[in-house]
Formats: sequence, C-alpha cells, structure tokens
Amino acid sequence: MIRVGIIGVGTVGKSVADILKANRDVIAARAGKEIVVKKGVVRNLSKKRDVSIPLTDNPDEVLDDPEIDLVVELMGGVDEPYAVVKKALQNGKAVVTANKALLAYHRYELEQLAGDLPFEYEASVAGGIPIIKALREGLSANHIERIEGIINGTANYILTKMMQEGADFDAVLKEAQELGYAEADPTFDIGGFDAAHKLLILASIAYGIDAKPEDILIEGIEKITQDDIAFAKEFGYTVKLLGIAKKSGEEVELRVHPTLVPRDRMIAKVDGVMNGVSVVGDKVGETMYYGPGAGGDATASAVISDIIAIARGGKSSPMLGFKRPLEEGLRLARKDAMSAHYYLRLKVDDKPGVLAAVADRMGKEGVSIETMLQRPVRNEAATLLLATHACRESAMQRALEGLRNLEAVREEPVMIRIER
Ligand code: HSE
Repeated sequence: MIRVGIIGVGTVGKSVADILKANRDVIAARAGKEIVVKKGVVRNLSKKRDVSIPLTDNPDEVLDDPEIDLVVELMGGVDEPYAVVKKALQNGKAVVTANKALLAYHRYELEQLAGDLPFEYEASVAGGIPIIKALREGLSANHIERIEGIINGTANYILTKMMQEGADFDAVLKEAQELGYAEADPTFDIGGFDAAHKLLILASIAYGIDAKPEDILIEGIEKITQDDIAFAKEFGYTVKLLGIAKKSGEEVELRVHPTLVPRDRMIAKVDGVMNGVSVVGDKVGETMYYGPGAGGDATASAVISDIIAIARGGKSSPMLGFKRPLEEGLRLARKDAMSAHYYLRLKVDDKPGVLAAVADRMGKEGVSIETMLQRPVRNEAATLLLATHACRESAMQRALEGLRNLEAVREEPVMIRIER
C-alpha cells in the first residue's frame, strides 16, 4: 500500500481523490498496490466541499506524518508550495506536483534536493496530455529540434472565439473565467506567463536549459483585435498563442507570443480550450499531442499517472532533462536572435506620403514588405496591415522604433510574429 497526502484540495485535488476511488480496481492493478489518500490539506476547513477524504488545515499533519509516503502538491503559487515541497523531500517523501509556476522557478533546485526520491510533474504541462512522459521516455532517442505548443487553454479559447465568432476580447475572457479555465489571476493566461512556465519545463526536459521566465521573450494576446483576425483570415492564417522552443546550431530559442500560423498546419486546428503540442525529433520527425490542458479530471488523470509510476517502483526512468546542458555547448539564444516573417498593424494619418514614409523606415532597417492591406477609419486615419519578408528580430525592433517616431503613426504599432 502507498499512503498519499494531498496539499491543496481544490478542483484538481478533489478529482484526484474521486478518481482514486472510482477507478480503484484498474489503478491498483496497474500500480501493483493499493493507493490510499490518508489526508488532504485545505486552507479553510469551514468551507463546504464534497470530498470523502479526511481534511486538515495544517500541512505539517501530512509533511510530518511518517505513514505518508507520497505528497501531492496542488496549492498553486510559488513560495508556499516551494516550502512545502522542500519539507516533504527533506522528510523523505516522494512528491508529485502539478505546479508549473513552482517548477518554472525552482525545478533544478528541487530536482537536486530530491536526489533519489521520486519527484514527478506530468500535470504541470498541458494538463491531461502525457507530454512529459512522451518527451522523457517516448522520444528519448532523439535530438529535439523544435517544440511548438498551445499550452494555455484560456488564451486558446479566447483566440478561437475571436476567430470563429468575431467575439470581443473582454467578453470572451469573462466567459473563460466563468467556465473555470483561467488562472486565479487571468493575466497569467492572457499575458503568456502560464504558457512560459510550461515551456520552460519542456525546454528543460528537451535541452537541459535552465532558464527563468524573465530570461525569455513573453508576449500576451491582449492587443489582438478583429483587424488582426481579418488580416489572418485574408492571408490564410490563424492566430494562436504559441510556446516555442527551437534549436538552431548551438542555441535554443525560447519564446511565447501570439503567432500567425498557416491554417492548414495541424497545430492551427487545435481550437477552443484544448491544448496541442508538436514536437519534432531529428529521427522521428514531427509528432503531435492533443488533449485537454485544464480541468479537474483531466489534470488529475496526469497526477495519478505519476502516483502509479511511483507506486510501481521508485524513481521513474532516468531524467532526460534537468541536467544542464544535455548537449555540450547548448545555450539559450538572445531574445532578439530569431528570424521570422512579421505582421504589423499601424494606425496612421491618411494623407499623401505616409505609406512611403512607413516603407522608408522599414526599408532603412532592411525590412521588406511582402503583403499589405489598408482600411480607412474615421478622422482621416487609416489602418495599415502588412506582413514582411523574413528578417532578423533585431532589425524588426529597430524598424518598430523608427515607426513609433513617425509623426503620422497615431498609436503604438502592433507586431505579431509569423511561424510558417
Ligand atoms: N489556466 C490554465 C489554462 C490551466 O488555461 O490552460 C491549466 O494550466
């Protein structure tokens, strides 16, 4: 028998307890032993909840209980769970966490502290999709060339509704919150931070890159409007918030940003609250993983897979990641080292010479325009929607600076990267 303590019995914690009960037969058969939840820890004991496990509001009742073999951390946040996980490991307990923010900051440290103790985190990326096990085990023969992930369901839900129904950003965000997809603070979802946390975990496994969120490029979807959606539709793209890890030579680009993706690519078809991850290995080619990235039962499915793996026999297969760096000389690329095609939206004065001035600022930095749409708007203004040929990010940033300084440019330009 393996005895479990769950710290944080919210939606996912309740699902873990419920599924362990409902699927007890199959879980025990696969684990080779009974898995019993001895105690759950909640912040507020007086809150009514429909769970069948004994509850306490004191984490030490789990952390200091010598009978508990395994701690499941489902608290959310960074500092408190860090202290809890540390103490659990110091007390010799195996740990399973779904906490991507915790791992984004402390994964190497905790991995080291765990030593030979099992420390698993399948649910931290893309909820119910077994992407950690796919990368760590199924693809372990490959050099990973590229990962592209739709790894935030809330952002994907908002963008899908904007694309398919012409919906307004704020209204769809409210809907996503009501449906329970969003983080407690939805800026984590729409600002790209939640996706960045998950991307960093994947990048550690694939490349052994020890980066923190502040080291990588993170842009959110807040500025996307129906103008951008209209351009995307006109030119055969869809708009997605992508987490991208790309190896080129000795460098790995890590970035999260709204992206124009050709609509015939598989990843462009991952819609609504669903998650999708494409992984390209040098030997296997492109592989694609699709499924629910949020929600109690889906996330609990991943949490329990970790508990079963631990119950089967100590530490899972040797870690592919969290050893830095996996390949000699591999390092994180500078934020502006990438090259891409770019889309720009500019609100400009609608008068003679403005288009020429815009093209001139871009041309000076070697940025060449590939396609363009112009839409008149009120007050003698026009919206310019254009896409460039491939250029360096650094050149695009200089071109943007030049455009900001043009008198005829009325608002902060909006730029979206294109991944073809
Ligand atoms: N807020 C996250 C999402 C939940 O929308 O994907 C799962 O991490």
